[in-house]
Amino acid sequence: MVGQKKQKDPVLRPQKNFSRHAYTSSLRQYRKLYRRSIKKPEEFWGEQAKLVSWSKPFSKVFSTPKKPFCKWFSGGKLNASFNCLDRHIPSRGEKTAIIWQGEKEDEVASISYRELLDRVCRLSSALHRYGVKKGDRVCIYLPMIPEIAISMLACARIGAAHTVVFAGFSSHALAKRIQDSGAKVLITADGFFRRGKLINLKAMADEALSQCPAINNVAVVRRAKNKIALKGGRDRWWHKEMAGNFPGYSKPVAMASEAPLFLLYTSGTTGTPKGVEHTTGGYLVYSTLTAKMIFDLKETDIFFCTADIGWITGHSYIVYGLLCNGATAVMYEGAPDAPDPGRLWRIVEKFKVSIFYTAPTVIRSLAKEGEQWPRRHELSSLRLLGTVGEPINPESWRWYFNNIGRGKCPIVDTWWQTETGGILISPLPGAVPLKPGSATVPFFGIEPEVLREDGTRAKIGEEGYLAIKKPWPGIARTIWKNPKRYIETYFSKFKGKYLTGDGAKMDEDGYYWITGRIDDVIKVSGHRIGTAEVESALVSYHGVAEAAVVPVPHPIKGEAIYAFVMLKKGTIGNDNLKVELAEHVKKEIGAIAKPEAIQFAEGLPKTRSGKIMRRVLKAIASGSADVGDVSTMADAGVVQALLEGRNK
Ligand code: WTA
Repeated sequence: MVGQKKQKDPVLRPQKNFSRHAYTSSLRQYRKLYRRSIKKPEEFWGEQAKLVSWSKPFSKVFSTPKKPFCKWFSGGKLNASFNCLDRHIPSRGEKTAIIWQGEKEDEVASISYRELLDRVCRLSSALHRYGVKKGDRVCIYLPMIPEIAISMLACARIGAAHTVVFAGFSSHALAKRIQDSGAKVLITADGFFRRGKLINLKAMADEALSQCPAINNVAVVRRAKNKIALKGGRDRWWHKEMAGNFPGYSKPVAMASEAPLFLLYTSGTTGTPKGVEHTTGGYLVYSTLTAKMIFDLKETDIFFCTADIGWITGHSYIVYGLLCNGATAVMYEGAPDAPDPGRLWRIVEKFKVSIFYTAPTVIRSLAKEGEQWPRRHELSSLRLLGTVGEPINPESWRWYFNNIGRGKCPIVDTWWQTETGGILISPLPGAVPLKPGSATVPFFGIEPEVLREDGTRAKIGEEGYLAIKKPWPGIARTIWKNPKRYIETYFSKFKGKYLTGDGAKMDEDGYYWITGRIDDVIKVSGHRIGTAEVESALVSYHGVAEAAVVPVPHPIKGEAIYAFVMLKKGTIGNDNLKVELAEHVKKEIGAIAKPEAIQFAEGLPKTRSGKIMRRVLKAIASGSADVGDVSTMADAGVVQALLEGRNK
């Protein structure tokens, strides 16, 4: 708009009771320390690493013996479970580590650090009995119950890497992850409740195990008390294992800083999910430091993160980052709207939650139900709010700020990924002024860059690829069994720089605005789903010849899945088949990957070299008649047919 002065984004500085760490008390202080962290990273991280206890001090902070692979805190030894438990016992033994709220209102548990240590030790010795050794993998397929954290910490204690599989994933998805990780033990549950409905988890686990002969021991938590079958010689009840003869203490194994702590499978641009590998020292330092600084953790805080532990957010900010800081975490088993849209606010009131961390999709879905729900609850214990998982639109940001934070709590919009281990871009509350919709500034030691296709830097306000110039302690070290894919996915487009897969722009204040994924990954309700995974699930259905999956904007979910499906000759595309296909995707991946809409197509827009033109499909799926430049398309007539099909 010529002649009109560009309006600056509004900047907010809410203040509520911050502990004013020397380094985060003002923007000036933040900038000063940030500069130091970039100029002298070894000095900075060497100091910060003291936040965790090392059984053997490290000799080198950072090295890249074989680029782009990096090592942090080499020579050092530590144990993540010791750091999250044992070391707190003298000063915080009776402090609550986990407050658990079941889906039913009266199901509540409060577990102190001392009790948590006891249970972790008991499970560690059970894992020993199963023959799990340092360097092995254990798969965890559990709902949001304390046993999931206990299982992770027990693995860490004995030096086995855990791989948690979100309980919403199907048996097929579970089997793939068990096979790829080479896990030899599975920890699961009989069942659990979701919106009052019983989910028979053990039946799904059994189906997966029929394809996983390497699993020779299964521990089963009795959660739902539904009838299940225990396979003799393989399956055992968790509670019996925990009660057995027990030496009293299981010694934490000293692990090399670079020893794997866990694998977490996440979606990428191919049909096969990748096992993102995080190691012990760097991950623990990074998740602990970011939790402490970004959430400004104080001894008295009650921290409620609504993410499932099956995702990275739960790993870093319910389990490791929080417990390593000796904080109290609230864990909720159920859905945010069960039995009504006031549920989360009731939990905040009940446990006097001071820090609340959730996803924009949750905010949008609860905002839709109206202000009356939060208004019914006493939310004055809150002092800080956070968001994660997808960009937050300014309107939802304001709703959250006004109705939940009552205009007093800053919102930390935290940008990060499974691969980054912890938050990379976020405000520091009390120090960095906020702009609704922006994740604001980089954390210490993080150098983001917005790049053009040719690798040069984008101008201020220009959108480009978000990349990170240098490694940080929390970066994933590799993709399990596939280092080549690690290099190709993250470090080849802009040589040596970490490619995030997100688009972003930077404004005149140096604030980052994340615009969303620019690769073939869709964020449905904050869950990460690869288009290729859904496509290969669809194509595995007998009547399907070809499928192309694209995101469409969705008012609550952020993005939803729209699938174009070409059928084999003789298969009839009707509504029944749509339902069947959606069920098939659910069976192959899980309910989160079910397409919102399926459109049958006679042909798909392709380039002359046979590549599907997703940009064109995205426009069609979103209901836009403007599909852009189609000069490279093999058969331009396809578009017209697809547009007509869409309107039908
Ligand atoms: C998106 C979740 C905008 C982004 C921790 C990223 C965000 C992907 C934000 C990673 C945010 C996460 N603003 N987008 N604050 N946080 N994202 O691996 O697209 O499940 O690449 O990790 O979520 O998803 P993941």
